[in-house]
Amino acid sequence: MSKHPLQNKTIKPAESLRGEIIVPGDKSISHRSIMLGSLAEGKTTVNGFLMGEDNLSTWKAFEAMGVEIHQTGPDALEITGVGIDGLKEPGDVLDCGNSGTTMRLMTGLLAGQNFFSVLTGDRYLRKRPMKRVVTPLTAMGAKISGRDGGDKAPLAIQGGGLKPINYASPVASAQVKSAILLAGLSVEGETTVTEPHLSRDHSERMLAAFGADVRPFEGGVSITGRPQLTGQDVSVPGDISSAAFFMVAGLVTPGAELLIRNVGINPTRSGVIDILQAMGGQLQLQDVREQSGEPVADILVRHSQLKGIDIHGDMVPRAIDEFPVISVAAALAEGQTIIRDAEELRVKETDRIDAMISELTKLGAKVEGRPDGMLIDGVEQLEGGQVTSHGDHRIAMSLAVAALSSRGEVNINDTGCTETSFPGFWELIEKMSAES
Ligand code: S3P
Repeated sequence: MSKHPLQNKTIKPAESLRGEIIVPGDKSISHRSIMLGSLAEGKTTVNGFLMGEDNLSTWKAFEAMGVEIHQTGPDALEITGVGIDGLKEPGDVLDCGNSGTTMRLMTGLLAGQNFFSVLTGDRYLRKRPMKRVVTPLTAMGAKISGRDGGDKAPLAIQGGGLKPINYASPVASAQVKSAILLAGLSVEGETTVTEPHLSRDHSERMLAAFGADVRPFEGGVSITGRPQLTGQDVSVPGDISSAAFFMVAGLVTPGAELLIRNVGINPTRSGVIDILQAMGGQLQLQDVREQSGEPVADILVRHSQLKGIDIHGDMVPRAIDEFPVISVAAALAEGQTIIRDAEELRVKETDRIDAMISELTKLGAKVEGRPDGMLIDGVEQLEGGQVTSHGDHRIAMSLAVAALSSRGEVNINDTGCTETSFPGFWELIEKMSAES
Protein backbone atom coordinates (compact mmCIF):
# COMPACT_ATOMS: atom_id res chain seq x y z
CA MET A 1 0.00 0.00 0.00
CA SER A 2 1.10 3.50 -0.76
CA LYS A 3 1.82 5.57 2.32
CA HIS A 4 -0.74 8.15 1.25
CA PRO A 5 -4.37 7.42 0.80
CA LEU A 6 -4.86 8.05 -2.91
CA GLN A 7 -5.28 11.73 -3.59
CA ASN A 8 -6.20 13.45 -6.86
CA LYS A 9 -5.66 16.96 -8.11
CA THR A 10 -7.30 18.80 -10.98
CA ILE A 11 -5.14 21.49 -12.56
CA LYS A 12 -6.77 24.04 -14.83
CA PRO A 13 -4.94 25.89 -17.61
CA ALA A 14 -3.41 29.11 -16.21
CA GLU A 15 -4.19 32.42 -17.88
CA SER A 16 -0.72 33.60 -16.97
CA LEU A 17 1.86 33.14 -14.22
CA ARG A 18 3.46 36.16 -12.59
CA GLY A 19 5.15 37.01 -9.32
CA GLU A 20 7.87 35.83 -6.94
CA ILE A 21 8.24 32.47 -5.29
CA ILE A 22 10.54 30.64 -2.92
CA VAL A 23 10.90 26.88 -3.23
CA PRO A 24 11.71 24.60 -0.26
CA GLY A 25 15.25 23.62 0.70
CA ASP A 26 17.48 21.30 -1.29
CA LYS A 27 16.71 17.65 -0.59
CA SER A 28 20.24 16.32 -1.17
CA ILE A 29 21.87 18.96 1.03
CA SER A 30 19.23 18.50 3.75
CA HIS A 31 19.95 14.74 3.97
CA ARG A 32 23.67 15.37 4.22
CA SER A 33 23.24 18.05 6.90
CA ILE A 34 21.63 15.49 9.22
CA MET A 35 24.20 12.81 8.44
CA LEU A 36 27.28 14.99 8.93
CA GLY A 37 25.72 16.95 11.80
CA SER A 38 25.18 13.62 13.58
CA LEU A 39 28.75 12.39 12.95
CA ALA A 40 30.34 15.70 13.98
CA GLU A 41 31.46 16.78 17.45
CA GLY A 42 29.33 19.58 18.86
CA LYS A 43 26.25 21.37 17.62
CA THR A 44 25.15 21.78 14.01
CA THR A 45 22.39 24.20 13.10
CA VAL A 46 20.52 23.85 9.84
CA ASN A 47 18.40 26.59 8.25
CA GLY A 48 16.30 26.06 5.14
CA PHE A 49 16.00 22.34 5.93
CA LEU A 50 13.52 20.53 3.67
CA MET A 51 10.75 19.13 5.88
CA GLY A 52 9.82 16.60 3.17
CA GLU A 53 9.11 12.96 3.90
CA ASP A 54 12.42 11.76 2.43
CA ASN A 55 14.41 13.96 4.79
CA LEU A 56 12.21 13.05 7.74
CA SER A 57 13.18 9.40 7.09
CA THR A 58 16.85 10.35 7.49
CA TRP A 59 16.04 12.40 10.60
CA LYS A 60 14.18 9.48 12.26
CA ALA A 61 16.96 7.02 11.40
CA PHE A 62 19.56 9.14 13.22
CA GLU A 63 17.27 9.64 16.21
CA ALA A 64 16.91 5.86 16.33
CA MET A 65 20.72 5.70 16.62
CA GLY A 66 20.77 8.03 19.63
CA VAL A 67 21.26 11.45 18.00
CA GLU A 68 19.35 14.41 19.46
CA ILE A 69 17.74 16.48 16.73
CA HIS A 70 15.42 19.36 17.61
CA GLN A 71 13.28 21.48 15.37
CA THR A 72 13.96 25.13 16.23
CA GLY A 73 11.84 26.81 13.53
CA PRO A 74 9.60 26.00 10.54
CA ASP A 75 12.64 24.89 8.54
CA ALA A 76 15.37 24.99 11.19
CA LEU A 77 17.07 22.24 13.19
CA GLU A 78 19.68 21.81 15.85
CA ILE A 79 21.64 18.57 15.88
CA THR A 80 23.83 17.47 18.78
CA GLY A 81 26.58 15.50 17.09
CA VAL A 82 27.89 12.27 18.63
CA GLY A 83 31.21 11.96 16.72
CA ILE A 84 32.15 9.39 14.07
CA ASP A 85 32.10 6.52 16.60
CA GLY A 86 29.16 7.72 18.69
CA LEU A 87 26.12 6.23 16.92
CA LYS A 88 24.26 3.48 18.79
CA GLU A 89 22.90 0.24 17.38
CA PRO A 90 19.26 0.92 16.44
CA GLY A 91 16.73 -1.22 18.31
CA ASP A 92 14.55 -1.72 15.24
CA VAL A 93 14.57 -1.72 11.46
CA LEU A 94 15.31 1.73 9.95
CA ASP A 95 12.59 2.73 7.51
CA CYS A 96 13.88 4.86 4.62
CA GLY A 97 10.37 5.34 3.19
CA ASN A 98 10.62 6.37 -0.48
CA SER A 99 14.12 7.79 -0.14
CA GLY A 100 16.87 6.21 -2.26
CA THR A 101 19.35 8.76 -0.91
CA THR A 102 18.62 7.74 2.68
CA MET A 103 19.01 4.06 1.90
CA ARG A 104 22.12 4.22 -0.26
CA LEU A 105 24.06 6.78 1.78
CA MET A 106 23.14 5.09 5.04
CA THR A 107 24.24 1.70 3.71
CA GLY A 108 27.71 3.19 3.29
CA LEU A 109 27.69 4.96 6.61
CA LEU A 110 26.36 1.92 8.52
CA ALA A 111 28.86 -0.42 6.85
CA GLY A 112 31.50 1.48 8.80
CA GLN A 113 29.72 1.29 12.18
CA ASN A 114 30.49 -1.53 14.62
CA PHE A 115 26.90 -2.73 14.96
CA PHE A 116 24.03 -4.49 13.24
CA SER A 117 21.32 -2.63 11.37
CA VAL A 118 18.55 -3.30 8.88
CA LEU A 119 17.27 -0.83 6.27
CA THR A 120 13.94 -1.08 4.54
CA GLY A 121 11.66 1.21 2.54
CA ASP A 122 8.30 1.53 0.82
CA ARG A 123 7.20 -0.72 -2.04
CA TYR A 124 8.89 1.52 -4.62
CA LEU A 125 12.22 1.70 -2.81
CA ARG A 126 12.23 -2.06 -2.18
CA LYS A 127 12.29 -2.55 -5.97
CA ARG A 128 15.29 -0.30 -6.61
CA PRO A 129 18.82 -1.67 -7.21
CA MET A 130 21.15 -1.62 -4.22
CA LYS A 131 23.99 -3.75 -5.68
CA ARG A 132 25.55 -0.53 -6.94
CA VAL A 133 26.43 0.31 -3.33
CA VAL A 134 26.56 -3.22 -1.92
CA THR A 135 29.26 -4.33 -4.42
CA PRO A 136 31.90 -1.67 -3.58
CA LEU A 137 31.07 -1.80 0.14
CA THR A 138 31.50 -5.59 0.11
CA ALA A 139 34.87 -5.06 -1.57
CA MET A 140 35.74 -2.83 1.42
CA GLY A 141 34.92 -5.80 3.69
CA ALA A 142 31.30 -4.98 4.63
CA LYS A 143 28.87 -7.79 5.43
CA ILE A 144 25.59 -6.86 3.76
CA SER A 145 22.79 -9.17 2.77
CA GLY A 146 19.45 -8.48 1.16
CA ARG A 147 16.74 -9.88 -1.06
CA ASP A 148 17.55 -10.84 -4.62
CA GLY A 149 21.18 -11.74 -3.86
CA GLY A 150 21.78 -8.52 -1.92
CA ASP A 151 20.33 -6.20 -4.59
CA LYS A 152 17.02 -5.30 -2.92
CA ALA A 153 15.97 -4.05 0.49
CA PRO A 154 15.50 -4.97 3.24
CA LEU A 155 19.27 -4.87 3.64
CA ALA A 156 20.93 -6.29 6.77
CA ILE A 157 24.30 -4.76 7.61
CA GLN A 158 26.86 -6.09 10.08
CA GLY A 159 29.15 -3.08 10.13
CA GLY A 160 32.81 -2.57 10.99
CA GLY A 161 36.22 -3.94 9.97
CA LEU A 162 36.39 -2.12 6.63
CA LYS A 163 39.50 -1.36 4.60
CA PRO A 164 39.92 1.55 2.19
CA ILE A 165 39.22 1.11 -1.50
CA ASN A 166 40.00 2.66 -4.88
CA TYR A 167 36.72 2.16 -6.72
CA ALA A 168 35.91 2.93 -10.36
CA SER A 169 32.14 3.33 -10.35
CA PRO A 170 30.48 2.22 -13.59
CA VAL A 171 27.66 4.76 -13.03
CA ALA A 172 27.76 8.52 -12.48
CA SER A 173 25.83 8.41 -9.20
CA ALA A 174 26.22 10.72 -6.24
CA GLN A 175 24.51 8.12 -4.10
CA VAL A 176 27.18 5.52 -4.93
CA LYS A 177 30.02 8.03 -4.56
CA SER A 178 28.66 9.33 -1.25
CA ALA A 179 28.04 5.84 0.18
CA ILE A 180 31.72 4.98 -0.40
CA LEU A 181 32.97 8.31 1.00
CA LEU A 182 30.83 7.83 4.12
CA ALA A 183 32.15 4.28 4.55
CA GLY A 184 35.67 5.68 4.00
CA LEU A 185 35.22 7.97 7.02
CA SER A 186 35.43 4.95 9.33
CA VAL A 187 38.77 3.55 8.11
CA GLU A 188 42.38 4.69 8.38
CA GLY A 189 43.86 5.56 5.00
CA GLU A 190 42.69 6.92 1.71
CA THR A 191 39.47 5.89 -0.07
CA THR A 192 39.04 6.93 -3.70
CA VAL A 193 36.04 6.86 -6.05
CA THR A 194 36.12 7.66 -9.75
CA GLU A 195 33.05 8.01 -11.95
CA PRO A 196 32.36 8.22 -15.69
CA HIS A 197 30.84 11.74 -15.43
CA LEU A 198 30.83 14.08 -12.46
CA SER A 199 27.72 13.57 -10.32
CA ARG A 200 26.48 16.10 -7.75
CA ASP A 201 29.23 17.01 -5.29
CA HIS A 202 27.29 18.13 -2.20
CA SER A 203 28.87 15.41 -0.06
CA GLU A 204 32.37 16.52 -0.97
CA ARG A 205 31.59 20.17 -0.27
CA MET A 206 29.90 19.50 3.05
CA LEU A 207 32.49 16.96 4.24
CA ALA A 208 35.20 19.57 3.58
CA ALA A 209 33.20 22.23 5.48
CA PHE A 210 32.90 19.88 8.48
CA GLY A 211 36.69 19.38 8.48
CA ALA A 212 37.29 16.17 6.53
CA ASP A 213 40.27 15.93 4.18
CA VAL A 214 38.44 15.47 0.85
CA ARG A 215 40.35 15.93 -2.39
CA PRO A 216 38.36 16.15 -5.62
CA PHE A 217 40.38 15.59 -8.81
CA GLU A 218 39.50 15.28 -12.51
CA GLY A 219 37.24 12.20 -12.70
CA GLY A 220 37.01 11.41 -8.99
CA VAL A 221 37.53 12.19 -5.31
CA SER A 222 39.63 10.88 -2.41
CA ILE A 223 39.00 11.08 1.32
CA THR A 224 41.26 10.37 4.28
CA GLY A 225 39.51 8.30 6.94
CA ARG A 226 39.09 8.88 10.68
CA PRO A 227 38.78 12.70 10.59
CA GLN A 228 37.38 14.71 13.42
CA LEU A 229 34.28 16.43 12.10
CA THR A 230 33.17 19.65 13.76
CA GLY A 231 29.56 20.91 13.90
CA GLN A 232 28.70 23.73 11.50
CA ASP A 233 25.95 26.24 10.74
CA VAL A 234 24.44 25.05 7.48
CA SER A 235 22.20 27.24 5.37
CA VAL A 236 20.41 25.13 2.75
CA PRO A 237 19.55 26.83 -0.56
CA GLY A 238 16.26 26.27 -2.42
CA ASP A 239 16.19 23.03 -4.39
CA ILE A 240 16.92 23.54 -8.10
CA SER A 241 15.01 20.30 -8.75
CA SER A 242 11.89 21.91 -7.23
CA ALA A 243 12.57 25.26 -8.92
CA ALA A 244 12.73 23.41 -12.26
CA PHE A 245 8.95 22.86 -12.23
CA PHE A 246 8.41 26.60 -12.04
CA MET A 247 11.12 27.32 -14.60
CA VAL A 248 9.30 25.16 -17.15
CA ALA A 249 5.89 26.45 -16.00
CA GLY A 250 7.08 30.02 -16.62
CA LEU A 251 8.61 29.18 -20.00
CA VAL A 252 5.55 27.44 -21.42
CA THR A 253 2.76 29.66 -20.04
CA PRO A 254 1.96 32.62 -22.32
CA GLY A 255 2.63 35.97 -20.64
CA ALA A 256 4.42 34.41 -17.67
CA GLU A 257 7.14 36.20 -15.72
CA LEU A 258 8.34 34.55 -12.51
CA LEU A 259 11.18 35.29 -10.11
CA ILE A 260 12.32 32.20 -8.20
CA ARG A 261 14.39 33.32 -5.23
CA ASN A 262 17.33 31.66 -3.51
CA VAL A 263 17.93 28.64 -5.75
CA GLY A 264 21.05 26.46 -5.47
CA ILE A 265 22.94 26.55 -8.80
CA ASN A 266 25.79 24.14 -8.02
CA PRO A 267 27.33 23.38 -11.46
CA THR A 268 26.82 19.63 -10.89
CA ARG A 269 23.08 20.32 -10.60
CA SER A 270 22.43 23.22 -12.96
CA GLY A 271 22.12 21.20 -16.18
CA VAL A 272 18.42 22.05 -16.33
CA ILE A 273 19.24 25.76 -16.70
CA ASP A 274 21.71 25.06 -19.53
CA ILE A 275 19.27 22.71 -21.26
CA LEU A 276 16.32 25.11 -21.07
CA GLN A 277 18.50 28.01 -22.23
CA ALA A 278 19.76 25.91 -25.16
CA MET A 279 16.09 25.28 -26.01
CA GLY A 280 15.63 29.05 -26.24
CA GLY A 281 14.24 29.59 -22.75
CA GLN A 282 14.69 33.03 -21.21
CA LEU A 283 16.18 32.27 -17.79
CA GLN A 284 18.25 34.98 -16.17
CA LEU A 285 20.45 34.38 -13.10
CA GLN A 286 20.44 37.36 -10.76
CA ASP A 287 22.47 38.15 -7.63
CA VAL A 288 24.72 35.08 -7.85
CA ARG A 289 26.21 34.53 -4.41
CA GLU A 290 27.57 31.80 -2.12
CA GLN A 291 25.84 30.24 0.87
CA SER A 292 27.42 27.49 3.04
CA GLY A 293 29.87 26.61 0.25
CA GLU A 294 27.16 26.32 -2.42
CA PRO A 295 26.46 28.83 -5.23
CA VAL A 296 22.98 30.38 -5.10
CA ALA A 297 21.02 32.80 -7.35
CA ASP A 298 17.58 34.25 -8.02
CA ILE A 299 16.21 33.06 -11.36
CA LEU A 300 14.01 35.22 -13.55
CA VAL A 301 11.89 33.21 -16.00
CA ARG A 302 9.92 34.62 -18.96
CA HIS A 303 7.58 32.89 -21.35
CA SER A 304 9.57 31.77 -24.40
CA GLN A 305 9.11 29.84 -27.62
CA LEU A 306 11.20 26.71 -27.04
CA LYS A 307 12.90 24.58 -29.69
CA GLY A 308 13.96 20.92 -29.62
CA ILE A 309 17.61 19.97 -28.90
CA ASP A 310 19.84 16.89 -28.46
CA ILE A 311 20.62 16.10 -24.79
CA HIS A 312 23.29 13.53 -23.93
CA GLY A 313 26.62 12.77 -22.19
CA ASP A 314 27.85 14.92 -19.29
CA MET A 315 24.64 16.94 -19.34
CA VAL A 316 22.60 13.94 -18.15
CA PRO A 317 23.88 13.58 -14.55
CA ARG A 318 23.78 17.38 -14.23
CA ALA A 319 20.02 17.32 -14.78
CA ILE A 320 19.18 13.76 -13.75
CA ASP A 321 16.08 14.54 -11.65
CA GLU A 322 14.73 17.12 -14.09
CA PHE A 323 14.05 14.91 -17.11
CA PRO A 324 10.34 14.45 -16.36
CA VAL A 325 9.79 18.20 -16.49
CA ILE A 326 12.31 18.68 -19.35
CA SER A 327 10.18 16.19 -21.32
CA VAL A 328 7.18 18.48 -20.74
CA ALA A 329 9.17 21.44 -22.10
CA ALA A 330 10.22 19.29 -25.09
CA ALA A 331 6.62 18.22 -25.74
CA LEU A 332 5.77 21.91 -26.23
CA ALA A 333 8.91 22.91 -28.15
CA GLU A 334 9.20 23.43 -31.87
CA GLY A 335 10.87 20.43 -33.52
CA GLN A 336 12.42 17.30 -32.06
CA THR A 337 14.17 16.76 -28.74
CA ILE A 338 16.40 13.72 -28.32
CA ILE A 339 17.33 12.51 -24.84
CA ARG A 340 20.17 9.94 -24.86
CA ASP A 341 22.54 8.30 -22.31
CA ALA A 342 19.78 8.55 -19.72
CA GLU A 343 19.14 4.87 -18.89
CA GLU A 344 19.49 5.79 -15.19
CA LEU A 345 15.99 7.27 -15.48
CA ARG A 346 14.68 3.70 -15.58
CA VAL A 347 15.77 3.03 -11.96
CA LYS A 348 14.49 6.17 -10.26
CA GLU A 349 11.40 6.28 -7.99
CA THR A 350 9.70 4.70 -11.02
CA ASP A 351 10.83 4.07 -14.60
CA ARG A 352 10.65 7.73 -15.55
CA ILE A 353 11.05 7.09 -19.29
CA ASP A 354 8.06 4.73 -19.49
CA ALA A 355 6.01 6.80 -17.04
CA MET A 356 6.43 10.09 -18.93
CA ILE A 357 5.79 8.41 -22.29
CA SER A 358 2.56 6.86 -21.09
CA GLU A 359 1.26 10.01 -19.35
CA LEU A 360 2.35 12.62 -21.93
CA THR A 361 0.85 10.47 -24.70
CA LYS A 362 -2.51 10.64 -22.88
CA LEU A 363 -2.26 14.44 -23.16
CA GLY A 364 -1.60 14.32 -26.91
CA ALA A 365 2.22 14.56 -26.92
CA LYS A 366 4.31 12.72 -29.51
CA VAL A 367 6.85 10.74 -27.50
CA GLU A 368 8.76 7.59 -28.33
CA GLY A 369 10.93 5.53 -25.99
CA ARG A 370 14.51 4.40 -26.44
CA PRO A 371 16.36 2.08 -24.05
CA ASP A 372 18.41 5.10 -22.90
CA GLY A 373 15.97 7.96 -23.36
CA MET A 374 13.21 9.40 -25.50
CA LEU A 375 12.44 11.12 -28.79
CA ILE A 376 9.93 13.92 -28.42
CA ASP A 377 8.29 15.80 -31.30
CA GLY A 378 6.85 19.04 -30.03
CA VAL A 379 3.19 19.99 -30.47
CA GLU A 380 1.66 23.44 -30.21
CA GLN A 381 -0.54 22.62 -27.24
CA LEU A 382 -1.30 19.60 -25.04
CA GLU A 383 -4.82 18.36 -24.38
CA GLY A 384 -6.57 18.00 -21.05
CA GLY A 385 -7.16 14.50 -19.67
CA GLN A 386 -6.76 11.93 -16.94
CA VAL A 387 -3.21 10.93 -15.91
CA THR A 388 -1.40 9.24 -13.03
CA SER A 389 1.83 9.95 -11.14
CA HIS A 390 2.88 6.27 -10.86
CA GLY A 391 3.50 7.16 -7.19
CA ASP A 392 6.48 9.32 -8.22
CA HIS A 393 6.64 12.90 -6.89
CA ARG A 394 8.49 14.32 -9.87
CA ILE A 395 6.09 12.74 -12.39
CA ALA A 396 3.12 14.22 -10.47
CA MET A 397 4.62 17.73 -10.47
CA SER A 398 5.71 17.53 -14.12
CA LEU A 399 2.15 16.63 -15.13
CA ALA A 400 0.85 19.61 -13.16
CA VAL A 401 3.20 21.84 -15.18
CA ALA A 402 1.95 20.25 -18.41
CA ALA A 403 -1.61 21.06 -17.31
CA LEU A 404 -0.93 24.79 -16.92
CA SER A 405 -0.78 25.40 -20.66
CA SER A 406 -2.99 22.58 -21.94
CA ARG A 407 -6.28 23.00 -23.77
CA GLY A 408 -8.41 21.55 -20.98
CA GLU A 409 -8.07 20.64 -17.34
CA VAL A 410 -5.89 17.71 -16.30
CA ASN A 411 -6.86 15.33 -13.53
CA ILE A 412 -3.83 13.76 -11.85
CA ASN A 413 -4.19 10.59 -9.77
CA ASP A 414 -2.03 9.63 -6.80
CA THR A 415 -0.65 13.06 -5.92
CA GLY A 416 0.19 12.58 -2.22
CA CYS A 417 3.71 11.52 -3.23
CA THR A 418 4.75 15.18 -3.71
CA GLU A 419 5.17 15.32 0.08
CA THR A 420 8.46 13.44 -0.33
CA SER A 421 10.26 16.44 -1.82
CA PHE A 422 7.95 19.46 -2.12
CA PRO A 423 5.46 20.01 0.70
CA GLY A 424 3.16 22.86 -0.34
CA PHE A 425 3.56 22.28 -4.09
CA TRP A 426 -0.17 22.11 -4.89
CA GLU A 427 -0.98 25.19 -2.82
CA LEU A 428 1.85 27.10 -4.50
CA ILE A 429 0.89 26.18 -8.05
CA GLU A 430 -2.78 26.94 -7.37
CA LYS A 431 -1.91 30.27 -5.79
CA MET A 432 0.39 31.26 -8.67
CA SER A 433 -2.15 30.45 -11.35
CA ALA A 434 -4.99 32.10 -9.37
CA GLU A 435 -3.01 35.32 -8.79
CA SER A 436 -2.19 35.71 -12.46
C1 S3P B 1 20.89 12.12 -5.15
C2 S3P B 1 21.51 11.60 -6.24
C3 S3P B 1 20.82 11.24 -7.49
C4 S3P B 1 19.43 11.85 -7.55
C5 S3P B 1 18.69 11.73 -6.26
C6 S3P B 1 19.45 12.40 -5.13
C7 S3P B 1 21.70 12.45 -3.96
O1 S3P B 1 20.68 9.85 -7.57
O2 S3P B 1 18.68 11.26 -8.60
O3 S3P B 1 17.40 12.32 -6.37
O4 S3P B 1 21.21 13.19 -3.08
O5 S3P B 1 22.83 11.97 -3.87
P1 S3P B 1 21.85 8.93 -8.22
O6 S3P B 1 23.04 9.07 -7.37
O7 S3P B 1 21.31 7.55 -8.20
O8 S3P B 1 22.03 9.45 -9.62
